[in-house]
Amino acid sequence: MNELGRHLAEQIRLHGPLSIADYMAAALGHPRWGYYTSRDPFGAQGDFITAPEVSQMFGEIIGLWCADRWQAMGAPEHFIFAELGPGRGTLMADALRAGAALPGFVEAADLHLVETSPVLKAIQEKALGPRPVIWHDRIADLPSGPVLAVANEFFDALPIRQFQRREDGWHERMVGLQDGRLSLVLNPAATPGHVIEGAPLDAIAEISSARTAAMAELTRCITTGGGAALIIDYGYLESATGDTLQAMRAHGYTEVLEAPGEADLTAHLDFQALAAAAREQGGHIFGPVSQAEFLNRLGIATRAERLQRSATEAQTKDIAAALHRLTGRDQMGELFKVMAVASPHGPAPPGFEDAT
Ligand SMILES: C[S@@+](CC[C@H](N)C(=O)[O-])C[C@H]1O[C@@H](n2cnc3c(N)ncnc32)[C@H](O)[C@@H]1O
Repeated sequence: MNELGRHLAEQIRLHGPLSIADYMAAALGHPRWGYYTSRDPFGAQGDFITAPEVSQMFGEIIGLWCADRWQAMGAPEHFIFAELGPGRGTLMADALRAGAALPGFVEAADLHLVETSPVLKAIQEKALGPRPVIWHDRIADLPSGPVLAVANEFFDALPIRQFQRREDGWHERMVGLQDGRLSLVLNPAATPGHVIEGAPLDAIAEISSARTAAMAELTRCITTGGGAALIIDYGYLESATGDTLQAMRAHGYTEVLEAPGEADLTAHLDFQALAAAAREQGGHIFGPVSQAEFLNRLGIATRAERLQRSATEAQTKDIAAALHRLTGRDQMGELFKVMAVASPHGPAPPGFEDAT
């Protein structure tokens, strides 16, 4: 067992089993041993690769989407250009470069990043320098004003709780100890109420108050200052049962409880629950649409062709492979969804059909 594992085992011995949400929060964000606190996890040498790291085309298209929304907002002289969980800062750097095609957009953008990892903050500073950047630990700390926000693979890192349906109701799945090792146990006491109506015996349901609270907070920024947000992540369109908690290390799946803080932990998004949280705050929802649909509608194939015109043979192949990775139905194209939240109500933004 690693150091964080021993620390958590001691907590469990003293105070009893942890919720999966508490385990996830510690594994990802423990100030000393947390996964994001202690490393840069991206790329071939790391544990996984995200869309902006696959190709510059991803951030560029998002930058153009934001530039279009800025114009639709009446091109305010200043706006908050926010990114939640910006990783290496690649998406934001590509977005700003592409957004410069619209005069005034980049000059109007005040960069605000919501990020808790000191390691990644330092990398973001390098990627975006010498532009001034302001970091925040929480969405609630973003200043008020017109806002455009992007969250790619941010919500999937926020903690979830799991419940299992038994004869006498729903029981929370917890992290306890068996033979001195971290292991999943069921809370013997049933949780009052129905987590998912009509679910079969043994079904697992996931809920996340951290995610709905983050969505509500983000929507409050948008309804107060005007603007829009793009949420891009993997998940399901309608609330459903299923165990989607997963751990990833060195580009492969690993055991969730095996080595806390040494693997990325995520769970799929419940887009229905997130949309409901945004609507409750007065946000208008567009999508979700698949990432393939969104990128294709915004012309990623044309962008790939343009890049290929001045590319070497090897680069041409890489661009084609990246395009397939981002939009292929068997790759990220279908699994990943894109949802927009906007205020005030207006016509559908590029890439979407009418409000849902
Ligand atoms: C999977 S990475 C995605 C990075 C980036 N958006 C990309 O697409 O490459 C998750 C990001 O969210 C950050 N993060 C995770 N939990 C967070 C939290 N509770 N508050 C703020 N940032 C968080 C991580 O440090 C990291 O930058």
